[in-house]
Amino acid sequence: MELLEKTDKTDKIHDDLLKSFEEKIDRDDTIEPKDRMPDGYRKHLIRQMQQHAHSEVIGMQPEGNWITRAPSLRAKQILLAKIQDEGGHGLYLYSAAETLGISRDEMISQLHSGKAKYSNIFNYPALTWADIGAIGWLVDGAAIVNQVSLQRTSYGPYSRAMVRICKEESFHQRQGYEIMAKMMKGTKDQQEMARDAMNRWWWPSIMMFGPHDTESPHTGDAVKWKIKRHSNDDLRAKFIDKTVQQAEVIGLTIPDSDLKWNEARGHYDHGPIDWTEFFRVIGGQGPCNKQRMAHHLKVHNDGAWVREAAEAYREKRDKQLLHL
Ligand code: 3HC
Repeated sequence: MELLEKTDKTDKIHDDLLKSFEEKIDRDDTIEPKDRMPDGYRKHLIRQMQQHAHSEVIGMQPEGNWITRAPSLRAKQILLAKIQDEGGHGLYLYSAAETLGISRDEMISQLHSGKAKYSNIFNYPALTWADIGAIGWLVDGAAIVNQVSLQRTSYGPYSRAMVRICKEESFHQRQGYEIMAKMMKGTKDQQEMARDAMNRWWWPSIMMFGPHDTESPHTGDAVKWKIKRHSNDDLRAKFIDKTVQQAEVIGLTIPDSDLKWNEARGHYDHGPIDWTEFFRVIGGQGPCNKQRMAHHLKVHNDGAWVREAAEAYREKRDKQLLHL
C-alpha cells in the first residue's frame, strides 16, 4: 500500500507512517505487501523484480537452442531440467512483483516496449556446446552470488522467492562447470571450444553485476531500504574471487591480463570493464537483442489462446460459484 499523498492535514500521519516503515527496515523486519511503504520503495522493487523475472524467461532462449543438439541423452535431460527451472524462477518473480500492484500484462508490455530491461548477458549468442557450459558456470554462477545476497532483501515476497530459486541455482552452476571440466579433459578441439567460450562469456558475466558503485544510480536507495545487502562491486569481487580458483582447477585462463591478487584488498584486481559495450547492449544494440525480443513477442502472441481459455474457464467457474 502506498503512503498517503502529503497534504497539510496528512503531514503528521504521513510522517508517522514513514517513521514506522523506517523502523521496520532498521529492525531488519521484512516489508510485506499489506504494509504501508514509500512509493519510491515500491517503484524501485517493481523495476528490479520485473527485470529479474524477464531475465529468467529470456534466459531460456540461448539454452533452448541447444536442447536438440545436446551431445548425450543425459546432457539433454539436464539442460531440459535447467531451462524448466528458469521458467519457474520467472513465475516466482512475476508473482512476487504482482504483490506490489503491477499486473503480469503490464510487466510483459513494459518488456515489449523496452521500458523494462532484462539482463545484458542474454543478448549474446550460444555458439557451441561449450557456451552452454559457460552459461551454467559463469552466468548462473554470477546469478547465484547476486541471488544469495538477495535472500536477505527487505521485501518479504522477493526474499522468499530468492530462497526457493537459490536452491536450484547451485545445480545450474555445477552442471555448467561439469561441461567445461569435461571439455578441458577432452580433445584439442573441445579444449579450444571451451577456451573460446570462456573468452566470450567472461566479461559480459562480470558486467551482470551492474555499473561500478560510484556510477550506479539505484544503489544508494537500494542499500538505504535494504533491498540490496551488498553493492554491485562487492558482489562482482566475490564472483571473480571464486571463479578464478575454479578456472585454475580445470586449466582455463581468465581472459584478463590485469587479473592479480591484491592482498591488501583481499580480492583480485581486474582490468577495466568495457562499459561502452555494456550500455550498448542494454540499450538494445547487442548481438541478439532483436532476436530475443522477436522470439518473446511471437511466443507471447502464439500463446494468447491459452491465456484466453484459462480466463474464460476462470470466469465460468466464478459465475458457477456465485450461483451456488
Ligand atoms: N543487465 C541489464 N541492465 C542492467 C544490468 C544488467 N546486468 N545491471 C544494471 N542494469 C541497469 C539497471 O537496471 C539500471 O537501469 P534502469 O534504471 O533502467 O533499471 C541501470 O543499469 C543502473 O544500474 P544500477 O546498478 O543502478 O541498478 P540496480 O541497483 O537495479 O542494480 C542489478 C542492478 C545488480 C542487476 C540489480 O537490479 C539486481 O540485483 N537485480 C536482480 C538480479 C537480476 O536481475 N539478475 C539478472 C540475471 S537473472 C539470471 O541470470 C538467471 C539465471 O538463472 C541464469
